[in-house]
Amino acid sequence: MVNKYNAPKGTEDLYGPSARMWDYCMDVARDVFERAGYEPIYTPIFELTEVFTRGIGEATDVVGKEMYTFEDKGGRSMTLRPENTAGVVRAAINASLTANNAAAKLYYGGPQFRHERPQKGRQRQFYQIGAELLGYDSPEADAEIIGLLWHYFVELGIPPSSMRMLVNSMGCKNCRPTYRDSIERFILTNADDLCAECVRRADTNPLRALDCKNESCREVLSEAPRLMDALCAPCADHDKQVRVLLDLVGIPFEQDDSLVRGLDYYTRTVFEIQTDDGQGAQNAIGGGGRYDGLFEALGGKPTPGIGFALGFERAALALEAVGIDMAIGSDCDIYVACATDDLRARAFSVADTLREDGMYAQSDLGDRTLKAQMKAANKAGAAFVAILAPDEDAQGGVTLRDMHTKDEVFMTYDALLNLPE
Ligand code: HAM
Repeated sequence: MVNKYNAPKGTEDLYGPSARMWDYCMDVARDVFERAGYEPIYTPIFELTEVFTRGIGEATDVVGKEMYTFEDKGGRSMTLRPENTAGVVRAAINASLTANNAAAKLYYGGPQFRHERPQKGRQRQFYQIGAELLGYDSPEADAEIIGLLWHYFVELGIPPSSMRMLVNSMGCKNCRPTYRDSIERFILTNADDLCAECVRRADTNPLRALDCKNESCREVLSEAPRLMDALCAPCADHDKQVRVLLDLVGIPFEQDDSLVRGLDYYTRTVFEIQTDDGQGAQNAIGGGGRYDGLFEALGGKPTPGIGFALGFERAALALEAVGIDMAIGSDCDIYVACATDDLRARAFSVADTLREDGMYAQSDLGDRTLKAQMKAANKAGAAFVAILAPDEDAQGGVTLRDMHTKDEVFMTYDALLNLPE
């Protein structure tokens, strides 16, 4: 129905199959992440704007162009979270989750907000599921997090052969500045052959030019110095060990020099999973990386961290492409129908008792005819229908119809209410 009020541009109502898809994605997350010891964390949907400007970085597109920022009634600048990592780290600092060198394994799911141009797989309110591993700087931590994301998608039902796991290293505060300068110089030297956006980035965020989507820019930038060749010895060693561990546990990955990611907090390992199945132009279904400077940026003690987030809408598109679509709703073991109006209250109470006994049971809440109730039972996917009719009721029972075989048997109320679950 056309309504005067539509959901805002770039947002979507989740109901029916899409709401069930969200629940399914969260159920699999709970299962996969908790097996590795991760615990749920839910942070506020809005934070002080500084959490994001300091955490994600002023020069990023997310902070510079895409944030939903407003002044609250106390005159403070607040922002709807564009991602969850900064909020999780802020919460971990507040709750001292990593005090005395403790480690914390956390996961979350929920809406994020970015004022982007909506398109297939790109929304202004979108849902992410993510995990953050705080307190470890070891290559094992990186390999666990990358493996967790990979296994999550596999368990969700996305065929491994359709996914690409791209991995790169962003270096650290010791080796990246020199590399940043060399890319800045490279851009300025080749400015005539690059797009205006790449040239603008020379000044603000030169590394981001490396993942410009423009074909001719990509060709020019393929000649740029490689960050891999500029890593300091500890970063190069860390990177090598991560790769050895990923090989050891059989996670397929590819080195991608152009993978620089859009958020400023990354150090060392970064990664992204792409799939073309079901996607539009946006094919990154999840990504993440290490952020060893984020705690300090948010006023905490230096603490290493690594994590990822995946995009629910894009994961759902990938699942639909392989025929997983959550079309079937909740279960219905039994639908309690009545042939006459005077048995309506009885049907209502039988269904109520069956539910108390743990069954998935429904009855008609309107004034449908028996025929319409049978249709409703069918729609609900009921395995059985108990039909209450005057003759059977007089004998203390109902007709029980097996909706699959269409067989019907007489069953006493006693037997019906004591059906095994
Ligand atoms: P991100 O790459 O900005 O990273 O987002 C992660 C995933 O969220 C993307 O791969 C994509 O699937 C999905 N996504 C992002 N923007 C949109 C959008 N506008 N519409 C639909 N889906 C979108 C982060 O957010 C980091 N916090 C990940 C992380 C966690 N790094 C360390 N820990």
